[in-house]
Amino acid sequence: MLRAAVLIVFLLSVARHGCSQIYNAIYSFGDSISDTGNLCTGSGGCPSWLTTGQPPYGNTHFGRPTGRCTDGRVVVDFLAEHFRLPLLPPSKASGGDFKKGANMAIIGATTMDFDFFQSHGLGNSIWNNGPLGTQIQWFQQLMPSICGSDCKSYLNNSLFIVGEFGGNDYNAPLFGGKGMAEVRTYVPQIIDKITNSLEALIELGAVDVVVPGVLPIGCFPLYLTLYPSSSKDDYDEIGCLKSFNNLSSYHNDLLKQAVSGLRSKHAGVRLMYADFYAQVADMVRSPETFGLKYGLRVCCGAGGQGSYNYNNRARCGMTGASACADPEKHLVWDGIHLTDAAYHAVADGWLNGTYCTPGILR
Ligand SMILES: *[C@@H]1O[C@H](CO)[C@@H](O)[C@H](O)[C@H]1NC(C)=O
Ligand SMILES: *[C@@H]1O[C@H](CO)[C@@H](O)[C@H](O)[C@H]1NC(C)=O
Ligand SMILES: *[C@@H]1O[C@H](CO)[C@@H](O)[C@H](O)[C@H]1NC(C)=O
Repeated sequence: MLRAAVLIVFLLSVARHGCSQIYNAIYSFGDSISDTGNLCTGSGGCPSWLTTGQPPYGNTHFGRPTGRCTDGRVVVDFLAEHFRLPLLPPSKASGGDFKKGANMAIIGATTMDFDFFQSHGLGNSIWNNGPLGTQIQWFQQLMPSICGSDCKSYLNNSLFIVGEFGGNDYNAPLFGGKGMAEVRTYVPQIIDKITNSLEALIELGAVDVVVPGVLPIGCFPLYLTLYPSSSKDDYDEIGCLKSFNNLSSYHNDLLKQAVSGLRSKHAGVRLMYADFYAQVADMVRSPETFGLKYGLRVCCGAGGQGSYNYNNRARCGMTGASACADPEKHLVWDGIHLTDAAYHAVADGWLNGTYCTPGILR
């Protein structure tokens, strides 16, 4: 009787957690939202010039900085945990074993290559460590050690996460002084580049591919602090800056169209659009629904303008900033990146399909 009950509980939990769905590996591409330490693979750990590589980054989960731009894990870590795979090693880890996963994502990464920014007079506004095309090259360099000569059948059972990409393509021109009208003209080019890159990965053998959109950048305390407005009309009903969120929505609308175009073109490929924007907006609107308490208030920061606890001269990891005592109740960690707790909820939303179409779990 007891054994039967235990078995039923076990089967229910398998059904609920989808443990029956198996991936041999996870391969991830992206920027600081998903980097797992590509600048911190040296023997000394993170370099001292890297603000996000200093305490209290990493404190909640790892107890030390790992190069993740948060207090703990990022979304791909939670996905790896769900599928009982090792946390994704950064692809630059020397001597790493990448058969069960690799994370090409790197802080500062853009979709567009350096030339694009240089041609718009923005060569100095970005620190470009590995745009999307370069990350795909890194992956190709790893492929022989991952899957030898039979990559199509190996990668057939791997999960690919491509993004988000775009955040830094917009940060660079916006912080570099370009007007919104000009920045909007970049969006179709950025989407084309993402689309072509997805095709390149499909060509290499990717079959299960999650494509996250950009976050609502008008909700980042960084933007809210740098671009305050005295006009209520500039803020939406959840307290975010409309014009910046409009840029994010425009990007995501075009991305969704592109993903749906790729679906019709590649019938055997499972493309999943992850709605980062809608989920973060919902988290700002009602943090409690996600087990959080604070929406737009930064956990690791210093007092600045408004109630955001963000000060651009004393950012998390710098002198003058400190972490809150309850990061697990905060959505935003440092002004532009989310907390371990928030990324956990995001991963759940992608897995169960609340914020991913279709959900990763079949
Ligand atoms: C990939 O897996 C599917 C079913 O899981 C199978 O039908 C297909 O033949 C596989 N393709 C390759 C290249 O192994
Ligand atoms: C978003 O921007 C476009 C183009 O500037 C504009 O037509 C539209 O009204 C804006 N939407 C909102 C909600 O601000
Ligand atoms: C799916 O995940 C979201 C995000 O954490 C959560 O709010 C929702 O309750 C989950 N739904 C189910 C059916 O588990």
